[in-house]
Amino acid sequence: MQIIDGKAVAARVLEECRDGVAELAAKGVQPGLAVVLVGEDPASRAYVASKEKTCLDLGMHSVKHELPAATTQEQLLAVVRELNADPAVHGILVQSPPPPQIDEAAVVRAIDPAKDVDGFHPENVAKLALEDPSGFAPCTPLGCQRLLGEYGIETRGAHAVVVGRSMIVGKPMALLLMAKGPLGDATVTVAHSRTADLAAVCRSADILIAAVGRPGFLGDEHVREGAVVIDVGINRVEDPARKRGYRLVGDVDYAAVAERCRAITPVPGGVGPMTIAMLMSNTLRACRQQMG
Ligand code: GUN
Repeated sequence: MQIIDGKAVAARVLEECRDGVAELAAKGVQPGLAVVLVGEDPASRAYVASKEKTCLDLGMHSVKHELPAATTQEQLLAVVRELNADPAVHGILVQSPPPPQIDEAAVVRAIDPAKDVDGFHPENVAKLALEDPSGFAPCTPLGCQRLLGEYGIETRGAHAVVVGRSMIVGKPMALLLMAKGPLGDATVTVAHSRTADLAAVCRSADILIAAVGRPGFLGDEHVREGAVVIDVGINRVEDPARKRGYRLVGDVDYAAVAERCRAITPVPGGVGPMTIAMLMSNTLRACRQQMG
């Protein structure tokens, strides 16, 4: 059994980004990323802070907007328009999920698709489905795909089962794995909360990708001997033994399945660090594309 070290792979991706930033700096260009957070959700705040820190560490320009929970749709759209027009900003990310008064789909559509480094804009979703490499794919599934590649896990002809059908992870993950090419060519099944006999479907997976957002949702009965398990879940569960009062667990019951896996991502330290690394990579490419 191999533990897939997302921290180590993310560090390599970030070093590539650092080189890319230096190359652009020599031409007088600094890639810029803007992150927008509405509200006080602690997990979202932590992600946004971490994105800003990574940006600055790589020598990128960072813009952070932390807006109050009561921000209106129009106020948020005004911020997005300002960032669209700002030539120092090449990538824009609005942290999801926003508070309920916000129409998230409308906000995503307002982002300039060329700056949509999250890959959530309909134009980028279409480009992903069309296998047009000029678009941006969402960072978390991109990170999962990169992990498979770095560990030499063959996707061609493999049966990949994606559990979860979100626009952030499940759907784009399925599109990436079924696309033509070296990190694709998989046979993909997308399972979700209405899937009949989920355990049997999951047991037929060579590569099982868990993206449901429920702690320990997939266990022993979902994983076959020799499967590769990619656990996208980052769930906070109460833990009075910890100083901060919680610990992070994945969607997979790691202790129950790890031994029989060929390879598995831990939580934390698996997919998590990859999301930010791929965000930086997308931002760098956005900058290059905008420079022509
Ligand atoms: N919330 C959870 N993951 C993501 C992500 O990749 N991008 C954004 N914008 N929000 C998220």
